[in-house]
Amino acid sequence: MKHLKVIEALKEEKLLQEIQVCGWIRSFRNGRFVALSDGSCLHTLQCVIEDDVLLDEFTISRLNIAASIQVMGVLKESEGSGQRVELLVKKLTIEGEASPEEVKKTILSPKKHSLELLREQAHLRVRTNTFGSIMRVRSKLSYAIHHYFQQKNFQYVHTPIITSSDAEGAGETFKVTHLDFEKLPIDDMGKVDIKKDFFGKPTNLTVSGQLEGETYAMGLGDIYTFGPTFRAENSNTSRHLAEFWMVEPEMAFCDLDKNMDIAEDFIKYVINYVLEHCADDLEFLEKRLLSEDKQKPKEERNELLLREKLELVSKNHFKRVSYTEAIEILKSSKPNKKKKFKYPVDKWGVDLHSEHERYLVEKHFKCPVILFNYPASIKAFYMRLNNDGETVRAMDILFPGIGEIVGGSQREERLEVLKEKMDILKISQEELYWYLDTRRFGTCIHSGFGLGFERLVLFVTGMTNVRDVIPYPRTPMNAEF
Ligand code: 4AD
Ligand code: MG
Repeated sequence: MKHLKVIEALKEEKLLQEIQVCGWIRSFRNGRFVALSDGSCLHTLQCVIEDDVLLDEFTISRLNIAASIQVMGVLKESEGSGQRVELLVKKLTIEGEASPEEVKKTILSPKKHSLELLREQAHLRVRTNTFGSIMRVRSKLSYAIHHYFQQKNFQYVHTPIITSSDAEGAGETFKVTHLDFEKLPIDDMGKVDIKKDFFGKPTNLTVSGQLEGETYAMGLGDIYTFGPTFRAENSNTSRHLAEFWMVEPEMAFCDLDKNMDIAEDFIKYVINYVLEHCADDLEFLEKRLLSEDKQKPKEERNELLLREKLELVSKNHFKRVSYTEAIEILKSSKPNKKKKFKYPVDKWGVDLHSEHERYLVEKHFKCPVILFNYPASIKAFYMRLNNDGETVRAMDILFPGIGEIVGGSQREERLEVLKEKMDILKISQEELYWYLDTRRFGTCIHSGFGLGFERLVLFVTGMTNVRDVIPYPRTPMNAEF
């Protein structure tokens, strides 16, 4: 007998065949209709118990929401409206019960629960329609990312998770140690003897795979990484996670302009991919957003439907603006003049905060924006210095409702300039000798960027908090599950 997933059963052309499906009960009505979900798609398969003598009273009494069952039956055209096919049950076994009293105390009970409550029960929330849809979209987006780069002959590189470098130099790393905090080894100076630690030197979880990625681009040409990264920044915002996934392509023989072209093309490709392959889930998430919007005051509602917004982004050019132009726009903007910004924009050289990024994208340009050529002083050490001696070939992509979604740059390929910069920032040349070697042996113009995967999922699903687009969010004071 064929074992089908619900998504396959619903599309199956050959009717009147016996099949088997497994899943969890979403509802049981009129003593006859079981709505079965197996997570393969948004929809449930209607299983019809036509002849209830088929099932004993005991079994019927345990057909409760959230119980897991195995069903064998005949796939047939549905008599009811709402579905093309249904399953006429021949045999049904309950694999795992779920007590209605216990279910009632959880988010599995069939009523609307707040996102906050769902977060507290993150181990159960994937069984709701909303989280099922988000996680399927997340999965498809991951696949689309690999597809994009693979078809363009980029090689997928696994950069280390444990490293001794801090690529961004921001000092926001999680330390890795196997030392026993109760019995720390002490050296002659009375300090913790780090040489006795597992690696014989300080190590941390990676904040970015870029530096190692660059070394691989110098041999494989075009590469990308896609893996977890870790930042101990104490930002309790709706866009920051302590553990998040980042996509980082790195391209040899590629300047900043080409870097921006690739980043834009890449984002549009993955958005189009999910528009095509996640139609049901996106439709569901769009309706969800619409009903949420109805609870909000008019001025806070979204102007476009979710899929309209995605179409718009995928069909139009991202606006490219230099940092200097952006500062001029912000300086003379209404919120700046009326002192509405928390961080006033008064002079060239200031770092941009999310309020400024969102003003540019949502109020001024009303489309995704790529800001480039930032002041060297506010960016990382590895970025290519422009001839003006003041700005670097950096670029950030800013998205409506999200702010920064991508950060990237052309890299400093000139050994002497790079060494000078590292000296100024007190970054050890000895520690990073391997990074400098890429500039010693056949250096070339090269560029790359990092896309925050959760921010992309946030944008595509129309959710508003990154905690709701990753299975188990890690944030300050929260590492449950
Ligand atoms: O701008 P960032 O710090 O850039 C880098 O790490 C570079 N090494 C990338 C590169 O050029 N290869 O981070 C890149 C992106 C940000 O634009 C943002 O989308 C996301 O990573 N990001 C976060 N996402 C969630 N939580 C956090 N704490 C994040 N920090 C950065
Ligand atoms: Mg950044």
